[in-house]
Amino acid sequence: MEKRKIVVTSALPYANGDIHLGHLVEYIQTDFWVRFQKLRGHDCLYICADDTHGTPIMIRARKEGITPEELIARSHAIHLKDFTDFQVKFDNYYSTNSPENKELSEQFFKAMEKSGAITKKTTPQLYCEHCHMFLPDRFVKGTCPKCGAPNQYGDSCDKCGSTYGAEELGSPVCTTCGGTPVVKDAEHLYFELEPQHDYLEKWIPGHTTSDVSNKLLEWFKEPLRGWCISRDAPYFGFEIPGYKDKFFYVWVDAPIGYIASLKNFGRFDLWNDPTAELYHFIGKDIIRFHCLFWPGMLNTVGFKGPNKVFVHGFLTVNGEKMSKSKGTFVNARTYLDNLPADALRYYYAAKLGGTVDDMDLNLSDFVQRVNSDLVGKITNIASRGGQMLQKKLAGQLGTMDEEGKALIGKCRAASETIAKFYEDRRFNQVVVEICKLADAANEYFDKREPWKTVKVDLEATRTSLTAALNAFRIIAIYLKPILPVYADKAMKLFGETEWTWESIDTAIENAKMGDYEYLASRIDSKQVDAMISAATVKPADSGEVAHESRASKNKVKGEGEGEQRNIPPLKPEIAFPDFEKLDLRVGKVEACEIVPKSSKLLKFTLDAGSLGKRTIFSGIRGQYEKPEELIGKEVVFVANLAPRKMSVGISEGMILYAGEPGKSGGVLSPLSEAGAGTPAT
Ligand code: MSP
Ligand code: ZN
Repeated sequence: MEKRKIVVTSALPYANGDIHLGHLVEYIQTDFWVRFQKLRGHDCLYICADDTHGTPIMIRARKEGITPEELIARSHAIHLKDFTDFQVKFDNYYSTNSPENKELSEQFFKAMEKSGAITKKTTPQLYCEHCHMFLPDRFVKGTCPKCGAPNQYGDSCDKCGSTYGAEELGSPVCTTCGGTPVVKDAEHLYFELEPQHDYLEKWIPGHTTSDVSNKLLEWFKEPLRGWCISRDAPYFGFEIPGYKDKFFYVWVDAPIGYIASLKNFGRFDLWNDPTAELYHFIGKDIIRFHCLFWPGMLNTVGFKGPNKVFVHGFLTVNGEKMSKSKGTFVNARTYLDNLPADALRYYYAAKLGGTVDDMDLNLSDFVQRVNSDLVGKITNIASRGGQMLQKKLAGQLGTMDEEGKALIGKCRAASETIAKFYEDRRFNQVVVEICKLADAANEYFDKREPWKTVKVDLEATRTSLTAALNAFRIIAIYLKPILPVYADKAMKLFGETEWTWESIDTAIENAKMGDYEYLASRIDSKQVDAMISAATVKPADSGEVAHESRASKNKVKGEGEGEQRNIPPLKPEIAFPDFEKLDLRVGKVEACEIVPKSSKLLKFTLDAGSLGKRTIFSGIRGQYEKPEELIGKEVVFVANLAPRKMSVGISEGMILYAGEPGKSGGVLSPLSEAGAGTPAT
């Protein structure tokens, strides 16, 4: 067999969210495929990285009071640990915030510019004067310009499904600060795709599966629209050469990050090597980026495109989209705290058919399948056979008789069928074939009744166990891409140090088996319950509305997705003694006025009772159309904050204000009729 050179990637996960069971659908199946290729003796590399740029990462870091660099370094370590514990093994797991990627991105842009594919356009966009930035679609909410539904994102309406520009929203609100953005003209760079209309139309069908390609080609009935590839400062990313304060949109340098990671691994040569193969594994939400923009960019720059883009569907749990309030939005770590990685890997294999269909993790089916097939059917051969051989026959294997050899022959005969299923990513069929072989081995075992013969004929028993265990050995080799740790343990049992696909041709006879080691044990639905309860988030904290509406429509992804759907950003945790230091008091608003020349500040005069009068400047003007309405109200304020000198005067405290990002909040008022200056807690 000729040795293939293969480079494989999974999509680069965003650096500001935890890895969850949905992500793992992708990383685990890519891992199956790469491990299969390696087992077959091919030169195959699994290349990935964290996707580190963009507004959400910048904002998340801001909110945590750390630099984006600190945030992405932390995520990198956590992601890699999650993957490693799920036995997902990358040859290189890098970062898009790297010197290699910066250089390649600049090189790409210059070549695109030189080819005439870059144009400039001025368009109106929403700008938040408080946050000092242009707002990406997912960072602004307002009223749908078509149907009038409130609380819609800046790109499309969840109620009526129409799409629009964010500047068309009624009463727009910045989801970061709650302020009202203004419309400003902004000049942006576009990558024109229409010149590649014919090229891409021809390219697509041969480079992805027909279900995906048919959908994509619908867009080709009209001219292809240009793609906006620049973002204004402040932006965490790479500055565009020749354009001060303009940055590459994260989706420009993200796929280039595949090449940068390969380069960092020292195998840059492989990318454009005509004898090497290149495959991208991606989810269906990012097809447009990988089957349109990316091949368009590569073609313009004269780089080789992927041989195939393999697209998978989304994970559902118990038939529904993952939900934080139902506890089915499970992070990798939460799973690992409760259940073994092997179980999920096995179950995903049993369910993945290499199509773009969504895949369901049915939790009771999961427990049942793992217990009945992986443990009860497959592992059972080794545990029954291995333990008996150890106890009664000093662990010594014998030789196989004709019936035993026939069983082994049957196992070997499945080799190319199973290999083809692996190659085609029909992992569910791989599992079906393996289970058939396990059934045959169990039938053989039951027919030979070694538990009876062991009392009367030790040698006949040894013969039976030798065949059953050799059958198990071949099954474990077939399973190795799916269950690498399991297979390694099995290999050691046979006293071997390396398995390749060809190892199935060897029979282990007249050898001494190692001590039987635990390979897999039954899982309990209680473990699943514990996982679900650990993953359950109270509705108020879940950010569910935003997440679920997106997932349900499987919209094409843009900036800001994938991360907000995870964790609502919070400030770093504080200890109780930190909290205790606050002296909270109630004060009555005597005066409240707009500060001239400031878009944010309100000047409060509080009657703070025993503390006397306090002047406090508060940056919440955007929230109150008529500040004077606050006069006479009681508010809670921090009384022991060090006075702060501001350009407009000295502020003597801090008025408490709370609200969810994106929704307007308000100043905190005591419920009871506490008098001015009363301690609030
Ligand atoms: N950063 C981009 C990819 C850039 S690639 C140059 C991104 N990141 S992501 O973290 O949101 O998603 C990473 C991969 O996980 C994507 O392929 C995505 O489709 C996949 N999945 C994320 N959630 C998923 C499910 N719930 N189910 C299945 N796959 C999902 O997109
Ligand atoms: Zn803002």
